[in-house]
Amino acid sequence: MSRELAARARMLRQSEIRAMTIRATENGGVNLSQGLCELPTPAAVKAAACRAIEQDCNTYAPLNGKPDLRAGIAARIRKFNGIEADPATEITLTSGATGAYTCALMSLLEAGERVLTFEPFYGYHVNLVRVLGFEPVFSRLRQPGWEVDYDALERMLADGVRVLVLNTPSNPCGKVFSREELEKISELCVAHDAWMITDEIYEYITFDGHEHVSPASLPGMFERTVTISGFSKALAMTGWRLGWASGPAEVIEKMALISDLLYICAPHPLQEGVSRALDELGDGYFTALAPMYDAKRGQLADALSAKGFRPLPQQGTYFMLADYRDLYGDIGSLAAMERLFEECRIASVPAASFFSGGHDESWLRLCFAVREENLQRAVELLGE
Ligand SMILES: Cc1ncc(COP(=O)(O)O)c(C=O)c1O
Repeated sequence: MSRELAARARMLRQSEIRAMTIRATENGGVNLSQGLCELPTPAAVKAAACRAIEQDCNTYAPLNGKPDLRAGIAARIRKFNGIEADPATEITLTSGATGAYTCALMSLLEAGERVLTFEPFYGYHVNLVRVLGFEPVFSRLRQPGWEVDYDALERMLADGVRVLVLNTPSNPCGKVFSREELEKISELCVAHDAWMITDEIYEYITFDGHEHVSPASLPGMFERTVTISGFSKALAMTGWRLGWASGPAEVIEKMALISDLLYICAPHPLQEGVSRALDELGDGYFTALAPMYDAKRGQLADALSAKGFRPLPQQGTYFMLADYRDLYGDIGSLAAMERLFEECRIASVPAASFFSGGHDESWLRLCFAVREENLQRAVELLGE
């Protein structure tokens, strides 16, 4: 039977993350594995979306998204990211940041071309590259401090890598790329005429004074960068599937056409809901996200440390990496994930999920974008 399936389908497996989520749900555990973000969507957004549904906002949306929502996004990224994008031609709405990423890869690359991703990576960034018939190549961020290996980057770009994927703040390691780092990486992209796709979905969640910098805001970078983000994390609506991309008009136009072919449009009434509520939320909503997550980060880090884990320093996102060696020894991250689940019924993700070529590290990733009662329960289970 498997001989009849395409190679791209045969290589796909359910990720440990989804498998862990299912186990945690079935066994009454606490799921800190998948980046679900189970916090409530802001009431103003829910109410506006309900009104849009009641008012029969039922048809397909324009293929690049509703104009008023594109205008709202243009205003946000002008203010927060320092990106000047024309909402008519340089922004498109997609089915989540994932839809934007897919359309960007399909718009920029020929079959078999190479895409560079930093390791540890977010699995979708690599698996989508593979499924679409491109080739992922990797540059590992070096500990301590997740430093960039510029020589390796330069070598790979000189060797013909066409697209560099950068995720800041980064899932899973929480790195927020500094302005200096981004300037150096940008210089390399310009020198070797490479594109950059930046995934900035955690842009509002940075800690300890780390500033989010959008590569497209740096001189000479807008014209070679596709900036991707979305509402999944900022508005706690991972299941609504609303994301966007901004970039040069010729790429954005093609991305909109590809997204039209793949799924026609992002959900229309939900676009309407977010669009109507964005003004009402205002800047205050977005600036309150980081302190809210910082409090959760502190609770989880304290509980993990008390148990004997060593949380790694983390500059942004709502994920934490915790070193398990003091507690479990050098048992490998998959075994450590099993052990934590058996002992505490807490679902996590093993480091091995974030590297290519079977590489492993001695840490687990835990997500703290959970409701207060679930975080409390996790803290209790860790303390038992
Ligand atoms: C780095 C990163 N990008 C994108 C996504 C998914 O975003 P969306 O729900 O907008 O497709 C995630 C979700 O975990 C993520 O961690």
